[in-house]
Amino acid sequence: MYLQSIQLENYRRFKFAQAEFPDGVVGIIGNNGAGKSTLMEAIAWVLYGTEAARTGKNEIKRLNSKPQEICRVILDFELQGENYRVVRELKGASSQQDSSVLINGKVVARGITAVTDLIEKTLNMDYRDFITSFYAPQKELNVLSDYPPSKRKEILARMLNIEKIDSALKGLRADIRGTDLKLEVTEVHMKDINELDSKKKELQEELKKVFQKIDEEEKSYQAEETNLKHIENELKKKKEESEVFNKYKSELSVKEALSAELATQITKSNNEIETLESQSLELDKLEVEVKSYPQIKEGFLIYEGLKHKAEQKKTIIIQIENLLQSIDFDKKRIEALGKDMIVLEKKSKTLEELKKDLVEIGQHLEKTRSEFMRVQSAYKVTLEEQNKVQSQLEGIERLGPNSVCDRCLRPLGADYPKIKEHLASEIKKIGTNLDSITGERKRIEEKGKELRLVKNNLEEAIERTQKEIEQFLKGKGEQETLKKNLLDKEKNLLFLQDNLKNIGELSYDLTVHLELKTNLDRLEKLKEKYIALNQEKNKLPQLKQNLTQIESNLKNLNIEIETYRNKIKTLSFSEEELKTTEKKVEEQRAKIHQLELNLKDLNHQKGIFSLELEKIERDIQETLKLKEELKSLGEDRLYLEKLDKILVDFKTSLISRIRPALSTYTNELFLELTDGRYEKLELTDENDDRYPPYEIVIYDQGERFSIERFSGGEKDLANLCLRLAISQQVSQSSGVEFSFIILDEIFGSQDASRKENILKGLAKLKNRFRQIFLITHIDDIKDSVENLITVLENEDGTSQLILQ
Ligand SMILES: Nc1ncnc2c1ncn2[C@@H]1O[C@H](COP(=O)(O)OP(=O)(O)OP(=O)(O)O)[C@@H](O)[C@H]1O
Ligand SMILES: [Mg+2]
Repeated sequence: MYLQSIQLENYRRFKFAQAEFPDGVVGIIGNNGAGKSTLMEAIAWVLYGTEAARTGKNEIKRLNSKPQEICRVILDFELQGENYRVVRELKGASSQQDSSVLINGKVVARGITAVTDLIEKTLNMDYRDFITSFYAPQKELNVLSDYPPSKRKEILARMLNIEKIDSALKGLRADIRGTDLKLEVTEVHMKDINELDSKKKELQEELKKVFQKIDEEEKSYQAEETNLKHIENELKKKKEESEVFNKYKSELSVKEALSAELATQITKSNNEIETLESQSLELDKLEVEVKSYPQIKEGFLIYEGLKHKAEQKKTIIIQIENLLQSIDFDKKRIEALGKDMIVLEKKSKTLEELKKDLVEIGQHLEKTRSEFMRVQSAYKVTLEEQNKVQSQLEGIERLGPNSVCDRCLRPLGADYPKIKEHLASEIKKIGTNLDSITGERKRIEEKGKELRLVKNNLEEAIERTQKEIEQFLKGKGEQETLKKNLLDKEKNLLFLQDNLKNIGELSYDLTVHLELKTNLDRLEKLKEKYIALNQEKNKLPQLKQNLTQIESNLKNLNIEIETYRNKIKTLSFSEEELKTTEKKVEEQRAKIHQLELNLKDLNHQKGIFSLELEKIERDIQETLKLKEELKSLGEDRLYLEKLDKILVDFKTSLISRIRPALSTYTNELFLELTDGRYEKLELTDENDDRYPPYEIVIYDQGERFSIERFSGGEKDLANLCLRLAISQQVSQSSGVEFSFIILDEIFGSQDASRKENILKGLAKLKNRFRQIFLITHIDDIKDSVENLITVLENEDGTSQLILQ
């Protein structure tokens, strides 16, 4: 395999860059951070994807690139005569990854998984192997030389993938530990099978005994049940007998009670008859007395009527007396009221006259009022006139002769005193007039006052007279009512006097009346008694007839009683025997109940034993299973142990086989690079008597020396040879022929002569590697390489590739 070209779009610093890869030693130069290692990372990324990138996929796409821009790498290489193109890209904001592989222009794989599968299969190595074979990163050579041999061995093991065996061993040992633990746990949980067997036998024995007992108890239970049935039959018979016996007995006692009742009734009837017969003698005596009852009653009723009339007469007399008194009173009142009527007439006339006077006074008053109004207005006019002339005078006096005449509107001048005087006399005249008006007004006022006093007196007299007349009018109404009532009373008096006459004279005697009453009360009681005794006497024949009937009934009943007594005697029933049988039944039932309980207990025991037996059987099965498991675990463990040994042996043999191959190849390269100055280089093995394993030793004039004895440049060369040998080893084991290698900043801190040394050495390796890429930031190698790819930084922060 060798690289043909690469194209980068928005891959890290590269916006768009393309480069053809020439053959030979190719220098890739540029400043720190220009993107040299990025270029190599892109080769690994296009083949193996995210795993090969130094960051997560979201940080791969160029910073500041637009979301719609695609991050893409296209790598062309040749392998076994075929042209391969591998494309990988990240699309969209979420960096969706996609990739494809074309062979000779034909798509052979599409999608991340398919492409990775195809690459791993074609190159026959995974990402780690790929990196180890073709890419020696910065400082790795230093690491190889600086670390002690044991560490170097470890690094080599890692590079050569031997550590995979270690990790397999680690897993295997974890499995062994796991199996041990399972074994331990299984042994702890496993029960003693012999113990379980003997316990099972014991339980089977116990269970057999319980079955036997159940059998025995069931037999005796059946026997006792039959027994119980016999006794119960006996009891049933006895109970039937008892029923008949008790029936006779109760019927007998009913009849005996009835017989006693009849006997009592007979005694009672005899007594009654006797009493009634003695009462009929008394009845004869009563009859004689009761005969006078109607006569006495009639007399009493006459006296009752007399008493009533006497009371009536008395009441009428009182009423007549009261009426006479009332009539007399009314007459006197009517007479008095008649006198008042004369006064009423007079008062009415007076009222008429008073009213007439009042009208007259009113007219006078009205006249006086209008007179006053007239005088009052004359007074007002005169007063105003006086004020007007007065103010005129005051105005003139204030201005003196300069005052203006109110008619001609010229100053008064010489007329001033004249006019002033005229005005003063005018004021005086008006004053006199005012005085006479005031006198007139006072007179009218006096007159008005007098008239109002008279009017008030008249009004009071009218009111008073009206009230008196009203009073007299009421008396007139009373007089009329009294006259009407008086007629009614006189009619009533006549009616009462008639009644009194009709009653006439009465001869009522209270003593006779009371005597009659006492006699009548006594006779009434005797009469009642007579009637009652007479009714009782009528019952006697019936009573006698009833007695005969009861006596015959009793006789019949006594015959029946004798028959029942004979029947009971003939029944040979005993209450005690019945009780004994009942007791027997109860005892038998208790016995059976006990047997049932026993059976229940036994069945319970049977259940427990059966469950225990089942559990033991389960335990036995479980233990047998565990035994099986233990056996298989033991076998597993043996197998794992064997595997462990095989892996250890395999690792040892691998290391022992690789070391000579590595040693041989490193030696070949070293001899070639040093032009045969030294005889041999080798990597020591595990059994070296002087040096630890994996120490680089160099033969100088037949003697072995550790690499430490040689110069820095020689050390660098030896390590470079070892690193190249490792690449060779890994790529060889893949079975694919590889012809390129990338050395990224391998110079470290070497001085110029040492660098030159390495460069010369590399030039000699052209026949072994078609392409050797040497990445460095140091410019001075320019002349020592055949081709140059410069990684140049642009001003906008992107980089470009220039092939020279
Ligand atoms: N997605 C990205 N977009 C832009 N720049 C990026 C991105 N990812 C990494 N970089 C930058 O790219 C630069 C190039 O790194 P690289 O390792 O390739 O440099 P170099 O040339 O190998 O330098 P040195 O000589 O120091 O090893 C770094 O400065 C890094 O910060
Ligand atoms: Mg770098």
